[in-house]
Amino acid sequence: MGLTGLRDDPLKLILFGGKGGVGKTTCASSTALYCLSLDFKTLIFSTDPAHSLSDSLGQKIGDEIKEVQGIKNLSALEINSKKAFSRFKIQYEDQIRKILDTSTYLDQEDINSIFALPIPGIDEIMGFKTMVDLIEEARFDKFIGDTAPTGHALRLLTLPELLDDWIKVMAKLRWKYRYMVERFSGGYKPDEGDDFLLSMKRSVKRIEGLLRDDQRCEFIVVTVPEDMAILETERLIETLGRYGIKVRQLVVNNVLESNGCPFCRERRKEQERYIDRIRTRFSNLRLTITFLQPREVKGVEALNNFKDILFQ
Ligand SMILES: Nc1ncnc2c1ncn2[C@@H]1O[C@H](COP(=O)(O)OP(=O)(O)OP(=O)(O)O)[C@@H](O)[C@H]1O
Ligand SMILES: [Mg+2]
Repeated sequence: MGLTGLRDDPLKLILFGGKGGVGKTTCASSTALYCLSLDFKTLIFSTDPAHSLSDSLGQKIGDEIKEVQGIKNLSALEINSKKAFSRFKIQYEDQIRKILDTSTYLDQEDINSIFALPIPGIDEIMGFKTMVDLIEEARFDKFIGDTAPTGHALRLLTLPELLDDWIKVMAKLRWKYRYMVERFSGGYKPDEGDDFLLSMKRSVKRIEGLLRDDQRCEFIVVTVPEDMAILETERLIETLGRYGIKVRQLVVNNVLESNGCPFCRERRKEQERYIDRIRTRFSNLRLTITFLQPREVKGVEALNNFKDILFQ
């Protein structure tokens, strides 16, 4: 059985996640090729700071959307969250300063030091916002995301909540200011500081709304038949569930097909035990088994072959 349900029109964002090295990038790239074969205009992007789309596709990608050479209708992007954050600071410096400036407690020195402080996860979230903007602009039919190994990907998905807390603190500063203005001048007209907080709040809601909408977004977990990978898979699926992100299907990669030599037979037997365990522990998920290939799955031709296995 192969991956299923991805051709549904409302489904826009398909994310791949899992333990390090299990085949996330390979599955993401192959899925992008599958979407193309169905005539969907597709963008493949990576949120992994150690980007490997360039390696997988065999050409330099980088942090601007660019058409993948030799493949019609496929574009790619390796999100650079540091750059997204610099853009954020440049874009919103005045508004943030305005909020701090109107706070009753802070002098210029405080404001400068607060402004220099990192805002929790803001760089990555700005990277993610880039993606949500693109999805809303509907420049592509399908967006395929390659995420970093479990811990980092989970952090990314839980960032909207962190940012929301930051917005609340800023809003509290505003609220006191607003109260004073209202008391002393009888009325309050929202300024650019309020507009900024509102627009940030909206971004958080849009990101959360997209990730939790199982019509528009699907998170596919990739694993391998090994003890540690199964444990990590459980943790990942459970944490995603807590954040309202449902997982429907699981890819079990690197499964040995051959029973030829004693070594392969032994490994295969061990894998079968783990596959049984996966079937039991994840009985509510649809499994797709993909075999270990004789060579690395790199470059368009190899990915196209792998796509046929992934969507058999
Ligand atoms: N079924 C397979 N058979 C053979 N090689 C594979 C298979 N799946 C993936 N590979 C190879 O294994 C390596 C790791 O795969 P990939 O980069 O897709 O994993 P990843 O989960 O994205 O890793 P990372 O966590 O480092 O991002 C790559 O060289 C890839 O070509
Ligand atoms: Mg990868």
